[in-house]
Amino acid sequence: MTDLFEKARALFPYTQAIRRDLHQHPELAFQEFRTSGVIAKELRDLGLEVTTGVAKTGVLAMIEGAKPGPVIMLRFDMDALPIEEKTGAEYASQNAGVMHACGHDGHVAIGLTVARLLNDMREEMAGSVKLLFQPAEEGAGGADTMIKEGSLEGPAPIKCLGLHIWNEQPIGWLGIAGGPVMASAVMFKIILTGKGGHGAIPHLAIDPVVAAAQIISAAQTISSRNTDPQKACVVSICTVNAGHAFNVIPHSVEMTGTIRTFDTQVEQMTYKRLEEISRGIGEAMGCKVEFSLDNPTPPVINDPTVANVVKQAARIVLPGHEIDDRGRTTMGAEDFAYYLQKIPGAFFFIGSTNQEKGLIYGHHHPKFDFDEGALPRGAALMAQAALELLQA
Ligand code: NI
Repeated sequence: MTDLFEKARALFPYTQAIRRDLHQHPELAFQEFRTSGVIAKELRDLGLEVTTGVAKTGVLAMIEGAKPGPVIMLRFDMDALPIEEKTGAEYASQNAGVMHACGHDGHVAIGLTVARLLNDMREEMAGSVKLLFQPAEEGAGGADTMIKEGSLEGPAPIKCLGLHIWNEQPIGWLGIAGGPVMASAVMFKIILTGKGGHGAIPHLAIDPVVAAAQIISAAQTISSRNTDPQKACVVSICTVNAGHAFNVIPHSVEMTGTIRTFDTQVEQMTYKRLEEISRGIGEAMGCKVEFSLDNPTPPVINDPTVANVVKQAARIVLPGHEIDDRGRTTMGAEDFAYYLQKIPGAFFFIGSTNQEKGLIYGHHHPKFDFDEGALPRGAALMAQAALELLQA
């Protein structure tokens, strides 16, 4: 077998140039028009048939092997975040207030490198690889829209792979596991309506702030008292908005937050308990309570067999790397979960921090940057895993 890591390293100047170009020109969800143009051009330059405009800015391409066989799908996300970059890097964002602070620029660069690696091996390939470049991963419904617009049909892949550069672990670390690897996410909103009044005359008002304070505290008992300690559950109230004046009891309070779990039962229990706590406390304090859930993303649950194939590929192509197969990598969420609901597959992580180089900031931080050595590792592993899956 050809050493794909060696080949990927030889392509590093190309990969790095793509990544840095995209980093300088980040684009938000469903607005990745320039990014989409770069992807389509690079893939067409390889002679591939390319479909653009799927889910607005998504791109699909097929690498067809010389021999017949199954179709494997590889997914790469494209979007940036509404963050003002503070890295001071020479390739820093040129779009004010927009930044590739999650590493999706790296994912696109990996995807285009994988395209080159696999395109060179078409003669040996039995089956085809479908490349899917997806917009709007950051909570705007990109995966769901790609699926609704038919990207899993004509031809239909039987397995799928996705990856994330991972700035919670050092370069050389790989996270590959079967079962749950990323959490589900749902947004909740709680509106408490009391009766506004003078801050000096509380007995003539109904104070929603006091009710909110007790709900905020009691909500933490869902994870500490209602959830099996061997399982995970996060309830975070992240916005609390009420009032404009120091001496006026406000009429209402609005709170929003997020729930994260790996397990459908825990998830359903948490929804139920949070609503009970909100209604019970709010109504006992005399408030009207509105409770709603929105924007649910399922957990990322890897197929154990596919995950094993990726592990095997890692041993072949990245020997000496640490493979962490404990799973439950993060309570963060990923819309790759939607593809996994349709097709068995695996989502894996490429460690990318480097203490010596000062590349230590986490995802979504204004100083986020990663060790670009993660790029050839990601490309080599993705390409090798795709080849192994075609033979599996
Ligand atoms: Ni991300």
